[in-house]
Amino acid sequence: MTKKIMNVNERKNIMVTCGPGLKDYLIAELAELGFDEIISSRDGGVVTRGTFVDCMKMNYCLRTAYNVFYLLREFRCGSTEALYKQVSMVDWENIIDPAEHLCVIGKVDTWTVDNSMFPNMKVKDAIVDRISKKKGTRPNSGKERDGVVVNLFWKQHNAWIYLNTSGEKISDRNYRKMPHKAPLRETLAAGIIAGSGYDGSCDLVLPMCGSGTLAIEAALIAMNRPAGALRTNFGFQHIKGYDESVWQEIRNDFRKKIIKNGVQKRIIATDIDEQAIEAAKQNAKTAGVEHLIEFSVCDFEETEIPSGEGIVIMNPEYGQRMGEIEQLEKDYERIGAFLKKKCTGYNGYIFSGNKELVAKIGLKASRRMIFFNGKIECRLYKYEMYGGTRRKMFAENTEKS
Ligand SMILES: C[S@@+](CC[C@H](N)C(=O)[O-])C[C@H]1O[C@@H](n2cnc3c(N)ncnc32)[C@H](O)[C@@H]1O
Repeated sequence: MTKKIMNVNERKNIMVTCGPGLKDYLIAELAELGFDEIISSRDGGVVTRGTFVDCMKMNYCLRTAYNVFYLLREFRCGSTEALYKQVSMVDWENIIDPAEHLCVIGKVDTWTVDNSMFPNMKVKDAIVDRISKKKGTRPNSGKERDGVVVNLFWKQHNAWIYLNTSGEKISDRNYRKMPHKAPLRETLAAGIIAGSGYDGSCDLVLPMCGSGTLAIEAALIAMNRPAGALRTNFGFQHIKGYDESVWQEIRNDFRKKIIKNGVQKRIIATDIDEQAIEAAKQNAKTAGVEHLIEFSVCDFEETEIPSGEGIVIMNPEYGQRMGEIEQLEKDYERIGAFLKKKCTGYNGYIFSGNKELVAKIGLKASRRMIFFNGKIECRLYKYEMYGGTRRKMFAENTEKS
């Protein structure tokens, strides 16, 4: 008798979630992986189509995503009884082994219930009752996301049941063992690097690098190394139908594209705080990119700017208390002078959540890209610090066109 398992090659809707402000970068990443069929998109996520095996690729490669969800069932739902009945119709015995651990997570926005605890329990009951009936035994369940994770989305009269193929969020890359003050989330750092247009083909300078998140994400991009390379556990690995050899094949295909020692351009990362640089070095080592980043301790003004064209990105603090603000105003003024005097030929980017402080830079931003750091609305400001010749050429070309 053949063992019944989920068909991993069936094309279904895949919802990929991301932080606010990162959707367009996520869509670009998906397109680069070959998933350009976007069924719907909103701030915080997109829906595309693909197989369970495609979900494995997405989990391995995507830099700006939180979770990759594979749709199992969608239905109209007006009560928790209907929810139980609908969820029971999925052939869970072919998807979850009774020896696995199950976690159910719900996002519920319906007048039928006022919190997600009860619907979550209904979904969990429907799954384990069905497996119990078919197999005589059932999986244990709880909050841990290191086994099978099932997500319920219930909005008014519509409900969706997804396999969470990521398990823990894929924004946790596993390299940040040494956090420092106010580190950026890895996905946000990847979005900022993408917003700056950096792809490894020019020098990159990161004064005020803190615990090194921007530098590490940039180095991973320059190497073409998948974001999930350090992860050892994903939700999809716990599903019946998961094939280790298919996973190895996906990893090998992407590993072949990694540029190990061929990154020619420089990545310079500095911070005034010795401990920050220590943490950044450790994190870069864990991520396997320490050989690509030149770290040093100094005031940002002393940071070496290689000659020619390049990109400089700074993420200064944007402060809450008054005393801090006065000091920060001076720092932002100095940042303006630093860009003007030392960064000729470069595109300068400042990531900040405080418009008043940014005004102190005293330069006109040519672009402002909106991001969110937690709940704080931030912007990535672009300053084009072109030298005389380039500015003149640009002016001439504009006149001609
Ligand atoms: C908001 S944190 C950067 C966080 C970083 N993006 C990360 O993900 O870890 C700002 C950093 O600026 C550094 N800093 C503050 N004043 C500085 C100065 N005058 N020169 C260089 N670095 C400075 C701080 O030590 C801190 O690490």
